This record gives sequence, C-alpha cells and structure tokens, in this order.
Amino acid sequence: MTSITQNNVNEEKLKLEQLISSDSIKQIELWRKKYPSDRKRPPIIAALNIVQKENNNFLTEELMTAVADYLDVPHIAVFEVATFYSMYHLKPVGKHVISVCTNLSCMMCGSKEIVKHLENRLNIKLGETTSDKNFTLKEVECMAACAGAPMLEVGEIFHENLTTEKVDTILQDLGLRSSSNGE
Ligand code: FES
Repeated sequence: MTSITQNNVNEEKLKLEQLISSDSIKQIELWRKKYPSDRKRPPIIAALNIVQKENNNFLTEELMTAVADYLDVPHIAVFEVATFYSMYHLKPVGKHVISVCTNLSCMMCGSKEIVKHLENRLNIKLGETTSDKNFTLKEVECMAACAGAPMLEVGEIFHENLTTEKVDTILQDLGLRSSSNGE
C-alpha cells in the first residue's frame, strides 16, 4: 500500500509560475521590486489582486499558498490578508459583485432596506450568487464612505446615498431586467 508522505504532498504542490500566466508573474515582480528585498510582505496585496483577477475574480487555497511561497512569506500572512479585505473572494462569484455596507452609519441610514430590496430583486440572499452567475451579493464592513451612507460598491465604483430607486437604476445599468434568475 502506498502511503502519502509529506514529500509526496510537497511534490504535488504547484508553483505560482505553473498556476498563472507569465504576464501576471511579471506584474507581481514589478510590485516586489518596489520594496527592499528584506521587506517581503508589502507586495502581498498587489499579488493577490493580480492572481484573483486572472482566476475569474476569486482566490483558492492553492493560489494563496503559491503566492506565499513565491513571495517567501508564511502561508498565514497571505491568508490573513485574503480573509481581512472584502475585495478578495474566496469562492466563485458572479460577473458583478455587489458589496453592500451594513456597518453602523449605513445601518442607521437604511442599509437593511437596501439589502432587502437587493435580495428581492436578485432573488438571492446575502453571500449568494444568482443562478445565471451574473450577480453576487456580499455584505461588507465600513468602506470609509460613511458620509454617503447607505452605500454599496460594484466593480470598484462606490454608489452612495442609496434609495431603492437608485438601486433599481444601478441594477438596470448592470443589465438586470426582471429578476436575475430569469423570472
Ligand atoms: S458604515 Fe458604511 S461606509 Fe462607513
């Protein structure tokens, strides 16, 4: 019987160069060169952005581990960054990720109603993706746009002072007709 040893596991682990394009590796290298060689952690954010972009907008454990090995930092350092910032997605997401802030200022200015409206229009709950894979609805912490509460972000664009009517316009601009599940 063959037993799986640690060596076997290590041999199976793919390097970042084998998982992403050479173009993305070049971009990561550019970021790495911006910092002194003994400062290995600062490029983590940029590297995860680049890797996520190439991987259909989400990160896998394999990719995060490969990023850590490539930058020569502990795996946990990369996992901490990837799980802290809401811009990283740790499972497949839809074409449009709608990130709704539900933190204090937004909550006090009506984010609950905004979330409810989005859930009804998209026919999904927070954390879910529509069956046509067009929309993912994500709950996020304060995005430092409290003066425009309630707010949401889609594709790095902030939409502030939301009303249900504004949400309808945003959804229409993103291509939603009735509900995103074809109903
Ligand atoms: S609480 Fe929503 S942006 Fe600050």
